Amino acid sequence: EDFLSKALAGVAIPSAPTGPAVPVTILWGSQTGNAEGLARKLGKRMKKGNFEPEIFDMAEYDRERLPKEKNLLIITSTYGDGEPPDNAADLYEWILSDAAPQLGDVSYSVLALGDTSYPDFCKCGIDFDQRLAALGASKIQDRVDCDVDFDDEFKAWSEGVIGVLSPEFEVVPGAVSALDQQEEGYSKKRPFPSTILNNFNLNTGGAKETHHVELSLEGSELVYEVGDALGVVPANPPEVVDEILANLPFKTDTEVPLPDGTEGPLRDALIYSYDIGTINKSLIQKWQERSGSPFLRSLVEADDKKAFEDFSWGRDLIDLVVDHPADFADGEDFVGILKKLQPRLYSIASSPNAHPGEVHLCVGIVRYESHGRKRGGICSTFLSDRSDGTTPGVFVHSNKAFRLPESGDTPLIMVGPGTGIAPFRAFLEERKISGAKGANWLFFGNPHQSTDFLYEDELTAFKEDGTLQRLDLAWSRDQKQKVYVQNLMTENGAELWKWLGEGAAFYVCGDASRMAKDVDAALHEIAEKHGGMDAEAAAEFVKQLKKDKRYQRDVY
Ligand code: 2AM
Repeated sequence: EDFLSKALAGVAIPSAPTGPAVPVTILWGSQTGNAEGLARKLGKRMKKGNFEPEIFDMAEYDRERLPKEKNLLIITSTYGDGEPPDNAADLYEWILSDAAPQLGDVSYSVLALGDTSYPDFCKCGIDFDQRLAALGASKIQDRVDCDVDFDDEFKAWSEGVIGVLSPEFEVVPGAVSALDQQEEGYSKKRPFPSTILNNFNLNTGGAKETHHVELSLEGSELVYEVGDALGVVPANPPEVVDEILANLPFKTDTEVPLPDGTEGPLRDALIYSYDIGTINKSLIQKWQERSGSPFLRSLVEADDKKAFEDFSWGRDLIDLVVDHPADFADGEDFVGILKKLQPRLYSIASSPNAHPGEVHLCVGIVRYESHGRKRGGICSTFLSDRSDGTTPGVFVHSNKAFRLPESGDTPLIMVGPGTGIAPFRAFLEERKISGAKGANWLFFGNPHQSTDFLYEDELTAFKEDGTLQRLDLAWSRDQKQKVYVQNLMTENGAELWKWLGEGAAFYVCGDASRMAKDVDAALHEIAEKHGGMDAEAAAEFVKQLKKDKRYQRDVY
């Protein structure tokens, strides 16, 4: 019998669990669905072993349970200026407050998702981690902070946690772990090679450039819902890559390892596989180790966050290559310090029912000049300038936190200045084609009416055919005083309050750092002024809206 189980272990996935099941509570805080996806994946995996996992949206978790948890796992992202995701905000605020209980009996570990190109990298996860420790909870395992490419870190963290909690739950070497199982069809791991059907500037002059980009999904079997995002795998500009190659101190006509484990020519690797865009502290440190630059040496020695940020601003890899020559043994040594080129997510601007087989994006094109060089956003200029004749890799990133109400009768209030219009074009298309009866109100804003009225014809047509009951436009620079979407909300506060009273759902898309905060403040003010509430009651009212999924945001 022993022989048999040993023989079977060679092919089986986990070895047989023994002992009583280990209770685990997994809480997720997620803005775009990544943390939620990982929480579910981990839960699924644990169910296969000797665990009893319970998974909660932080907004729906009963906090009274917290001191009684045995094993608590927190998976949370951070977005904007180091802020917790909307669904985590309440629990986060409470746990950081004096009201939080002692957690001496709790064991926990945190997986923090973030993006190293933002200053407050993984702040929300870090805050949870430090606060839980301060409240007396003990660690199952140290926190892991993940950059945008989180697969490996997630795997390491979850294998670590599983190993501590249930050491007998081991994955037999050679067997495929559940975490590794490749989903079928096109996905982030296997993007669909799409074609661009249409690509044009929506601005008719002026300083801004915003492209409407239509991509084909024909033959991909990819499906999306309005509210979802599209992942786009960009390519770097070949002329910048050629300039980098011309300045490297080794033979550049060479093969290098690629992030997916295969090999390819260095030039292709720098165009399609590695990030040659923005630089940050960790890259500067690695560069400095190979460079004799006294400037970089003093920058690294000072180890001042602000100094790193100031130097990184408006500089890319090419500036290090040209201005601070460094020594590399070969191509492999060089790409060893680079990060993988990441896909970018764009809020989808079309309804699949209005445009079968297609997906549309509304893309703000980033161009600027700094330190004597013309530069551009990697993915936005890829889509606008370099995508002719190429096949951009795309995949659908589902966003369950940004969905139309179940009933077509629910009125909608949508606030989407700039490229924030994207999902609302999709919403309006969908509401029209589905024959939804609920009223629709859109706030849009941009600098100038004459050049920046994105989708003017379509929005005007929606107004005329009765899809759109109200369209309020904030042209911020058409008069002396700035006029923003939130000013128009305030001006129309009584009406907006009436809509909310009639059950309207409130949606916001666009800039997270300023616009979404100001819009949120305007919403609170409207509740105070027109709902006769004090500040506290208004805050409760807005919280309840969120809980009822009547206040949803897609902000970045
Ligand atoms: P501005 O650039 O003229 O200041 C889309 O980017 C629109 O959003 C622009 O009209 C921009 O105005 C405006 N905008 C900038 N900051 C904003 C804020 N804090 N709240 C709302 N809109 C803002």
